[in-house]
Amino acid sequence: MRLGKIDIVSIEDLALPEIERIFTLADGFAAALERGEPLAVASGLIMATLFYEPSTRTRLSFESAMHRLGGAVISSADMNASSVAKGESLADTARIVSGYADLIVLRHPHDGAARVAAEYAPCPIINAGDGSREHPTQTLCDLFILRRKKGKLKGLTVALCGDLKFGRTVHSLIYALARFGANIVAVPTAGMDVPDYVLERLAAERHYSFSTVTMDELKSIAGGLDALYLTPSAPHQMALFTGEVPLDKLPAAEPPASLDAFYITRLQKERIAGKDARPGDYVRFDARALKGHRAQEAVVMHPLPRTGELAYELDSDPRAVYFEQAAAGVPVRMALIAWLIEQTRAARRAPIATGENIRFKAEPSPRCANPNCITRFEGTYLAARFKLARAVDRGVLPLRCDFCERELRVEFVGHARSHRYYRYDENLYGYVRQWIAEGSLAVFDSVKQAEESGYEPYKRGPQREVMNADEIASAVDSMAAQVIADVPDLTNVSIVGVVSHGAMLAMRMRDSIAARSGVRPPTAALDVYNPAGTIVALDGGEVFAVEGRAIVIVDDVINSGWTVQRAMTTLWQRGRPASVKLAVLIDRGHRAVPIRPNYVGKNIPTSRTDRVQVRLAPPDTDGKHRLHDRAMIYSMLEAMKAPESAG
Ligand code: CP
Repeated sequence: MRLGKIDIVSIEDLALPEIERIFTLADGFAAALERGEPLAVASGLIMATLFYEPSTRTRLSFESAMHRLGGAVISSADMNASSVAKGESLADTARIVSGYADLIVLRHPHDGAARVAAEYAPCPIINAGDGSREHPTQTLCDLFILRRKKGKLKGLTVALCGDLKFGRTVHSLIYALARFGANIVAVPTAGMDVPDYVLERLAAERHYSFSTVTMDELKSIAGGLDALYLTPSAPHQMALFTGEVPLDKLPAAEPPASLDAFYITRLQKERIAGKDARPGDYVRFDARALKGHRAQEAVVMHPLPRTGELAYELDSDPRAVYFEQAAAGVPVRMALIAWLIEQTRAARRAPIATGENIRFKAEPSPRCANPNCITRFEGTYLAARFKLARAVDRGVLPLRCDFCERELRVEFVGHARSHRYYRYDENLYGYVRQWIAEGSLAVFDSVKQAEESGYEPYKRGPQREVMNADEIASAVDSMAAQVIADVPDLTNVSIVGVVSHGAMLAMRMRDSIAARSGVRPPTAALDVYNPAGTIVALDGGEVFAVEGRAIVIVDDVINSGWTVQRAMTTLWQRGRPASVKLAVLIDRGHRAVPIRPNYVGKNIPTSRTDRVQVRLAPPDTDGKHRLHDRAMIYSMLEAMKAPESAG
């Protein structure tokens, strides 16, 4: 028998009656295990476990479950010892292994990886944890134990404590508790709040929200506090109430009659960049938290492993159920496998509808803003994919990544046929829906990107020249002279130009430096819009070194400063430069991010209603073409609302 193609990527892939059925099966398997009864439910089936990240509970309980059911298990003990080490893609690995097994259990460090594997493998994929996104089978274990201890799920109050930002078990659990009608109190460690994309999804799909409190407030509630206030500092709580409740009049909520469970989580250190990890500030849960009268009947849960946040003194308390949670891994995962077999035999399960993805015919295609999204790592074959999300901010078109679910907030939209771009506001929503339907929506993260893609503003006023060819040439020479005068060792300088005009100017600066000093600095082009954030050497293909170099980033105009900031991030991903300085042909003086150029060709004060655009001859054309170089300023008419000529 081949198993039916039923993927469990999210806990949302299981309907509530299906979860109930899995629990019924799990009850039966727990009893059978108790009796030592041999089983052959999965006889003849092979399960493959592909764990790109460490695991004790999930991996071993899945493997034990398959053995207990009479099936077989194949595995790669260390994915770094598989062909992944040779560069094999996730899609190919999933496809190949599905030829050797009937079912794949996958754990992966990147958000959305399980969705990718599910799309490429013909056999079912079970997500055993993908980055910080979800861990649905842990939630099955959590709910199974919670239901056993409390006799129900509906109406329970569960306090989720610790790292609610990166804790994937928490995200799956929140979705499930919301559906079962349980109440949630979030108790994040500072800076580790439930991510907005989870809250947005709950609000949009389930009309569900919950309160956020500190651990001290939670203890007060447990001890008898009478009123619970929504935390005014939590921005996502604000987002849920924007336009409905004045910020200084947030509602007080009744505290729960009792707390039924504390769900503690460890700090997900592996997902946090070094300086953000603050283990010193982290929650520590001990017997004192159970003393309040509202916590007398509460069970203490933890997906484990624990790393100091859960005191060992609790282990002997009958309310501590975390070892039972881990032990439930075997009967619950046996039940999940048996349920897949049951569904295959019944052959009547329709796939869950997930809505339409937006087709971006127009270039450039947007890329997911989440640096841990799987599309950032498997970009050779995997294009980013988005759906329209619920609008919270009127000036932003919200898209949701179909793989990692993070929101992409788009400020500039374009119409591919008319090649016009617009600053988005909600009046454009209807047009955007129409452009999506006809496949002509383009999105941009800046005016610069729109213009470099050949789009014109929807309404443009008069324009005038602010630099001619001679002035541009002399500004480049002046910046080259400033670099020579400024840096102590010219032989350690490398130049990086931001694609496309910055890269052209970088080559001109290199030539000017070489003519003046005899030193020709290595030069590269950096493309901030390329998913891989590429840096390509412009001096004949040799590898461009960043480590230890004195880097000069070159761009044509700094407006907001976001492009330069992104260029710097890409640079640092390549190595640690000795220093980074910035050269710009035109500096507009005021910007959203605190970046100040070191070498400036010309200053032109910023205005919200005008734009400077630089036009340069391509690099390999002769001097005559450079006579047409110029920088123009034009006014942007703000009335960019009704695109009557867009279609
Ligand atoms: N709870 C959990 O996922 O544990 P492992 O990382 O050991 O699988």
